[in-house]
Amino acid sequence: MSIETEAKRRRTFAIISHPDAGKTTLTEKLLLYGGAIQLAGSVKARRNQRTATSDWMELEKQRGISITSTVLQFEYRDHVLNLLDTPGHDDFSADTYRTLTAADSAVMLIDNASGVETQTRKLFAVCKQRGLPIFTFVNKMDNEGPGPLAILAELEEVLGIRSVPINWPIGQGVDFKGVFDRRTRMVHFYDKAAGFGAKAIEANAISIDDPELPKIIGENLYKQLIEDTELLEVAGEEFDLDRVLKGDLTPVFFGSALTNFGVSLFLNEFLTMAPTPEMRLEKVKDLIKTDDFSAFVFKIQANMDPNHRDRIAFVRVVSGEFTKDMEVTNVRSAKKLKLSRPQRLFAQERETVEVAYPGDILGLTNPGAFMLGDTVTTNLKVKYDEVPEFVPEVFARLSNMDVSKLKNFEKGIEQLSQEGLIQLFWNPKSVSREPILGAIGRLQFEVVQYRLMAEYGVKTHIEPMVYEIIRWLDGDAAEIKGIYWGSSAVGLEDNYGVPVALFTTEWGCAYQVEQHPKIKFLRSPGEKFTALAG
Ligand code: G4P
Repeated sequence: MSIETEAKRRRTFAIISHPDAGKTTLTEKLLLYGGAIQLAGSVKARRNQRTATSDWMELEKQRGISITSTVLQFEYRDHVLNLLDTPGHDDFSADTYRTLTAADSAVMLIDNASGVETQTRKLFAVCKQRGLPIFTFVNKMDNEGPGPLAILAELEEVLGIRSVPINWPIGQGVDFKGVFDRRTRMVHFYDKAAGFGAKAIEANAISIDDPELPKIIGENLYKQLIEDTELLEVAGEEFDLDRVLKGDLTPVFFGSALTNFGVSLFLNEFLTMAPTPEMRLEKVKDLIKTDDFSAFVFKIQANMDPNHRDRIAFVRVVSGEFTKDMEVTNVRSAKKLKLSRPQRLFAQERETVEVAYPGDILGLTNPGAFMLGDTVTTNLKVKYDEVPEFVPEVFARLSNMDVSKLKNFEKGIEQLSQEGLIQLFWNPKSVSREPILGAIGRLQFEVVQYRLMAEYGVKTHIEPMVYEIIRWLDGDAAEIKGIYWGSSAVGLEDNYGVPVALFTTEWGCAYQVEQHPKIKFLRSPGEKFTALAG
């Protein structure tokens, strides 16, 4: 198959949702249909399966949250799906944001009973900012909720996105009877007893015009269905693929992931509507040809698996064909490197990748060769600027509790900062080489401590700091050195030796700006830094 055909087959996407909406369940069902996993038909098996598919870090198990991002690849109906599992927890939005830079579209999963929740809102904001097409799956239709019209209204009022239902639920909760497919005009019946197993359960369907329908679903629900569909025809949005691809309009599907209902109806439409990797290529078509290989690093993770103590740089292929052992250039360092140990990851299992195409994610193990955001390519003209760095919002002092482990401590914090988990700052006046950590959320500090212990054998102490504001300083070095910061600010250096100042209040910052008109107080050290959405 040509590169173009391979690219056309691919859909690279992420599922965004609030914890508990059913993301793990839906992911498993997608994998199941793709034949990627064998699943016994019980909830218990599902739980075990969950441990096997995404919780690869001890901490995830302890906290019951998903911290690391998983990349899963599976085939379905001649298509190759690359599913990026974004971490759901609030504090990990920087990592989530980076992961979303590798996706071409997002599936927004909403719990029928809870509607649009906080985490969904934040993740939606990130997708919106990136202009990602968003597909909505309203899950748990077997539970009671405010009703489909109310959910659509919420999408518009809370998220500001117009929606177009592709199918429409008939009843909900105990009265859930199935969905009406507006395009085929078929009613697919929900059969709870048939669910939970390993197969799609939408096979049983009849036309909406079938005279038997009112008898099957009951007069009341039939009347409601006719009313609702008429209302949608008159007052609803028209389907418009261009608007979907621009992220202006979200197609909506209803179902119940737990009982497999509506998942394949969704998946089939998703495959036809979701963007192929070529859309991304469109942006750089003047710089490269489709067969020039190019990719960018969107995530770096150390010690993902204790059995393979290595660091993996996840790259998203944008163009060309990747072949094992190919030689590429890292545009940042201008260094040539051989991509000799590429890996595809399926939870804890790894397999060596021989070839990969646009949309695919590779795990590269070349230690030290990559930094977040790096472009690797056979064509030096292209440099992707997709992966932002973030301005930290919380700070803490980290101390090493075991002097004999200093080397491990230093290696650990350096590697974790390269992953983008934290940023490092140093006090030039302090004799100890103990860093100040900057992060987006405090949970990241806990993760750093945990990982330093688990992966580097170093016990640490963390002391939260009250500073909330950071500025990078640009101006006369002697003047910067001489600034008296007082008790509500501190002068530090970032990991590249650039002077920064931390402040407890905006007011304190404004005061210093006024005192030092010749010094620039920058919100970020360069254009690359981005304020976090949401
Ligand atoms: P998450 O990854 O988004 O956090 O959610 P997860 O899939 O773990 O699902 C959260 C809970 O919602 C689980 O129940 C799961 O079984 C349930 N669930 C998922 N899809 C549906 C659905 O379509 N209908 C209904 N009624 N429930 C659904 P749990 O009791 O927390 O866990 P478990 O005992 O099922 O593992």
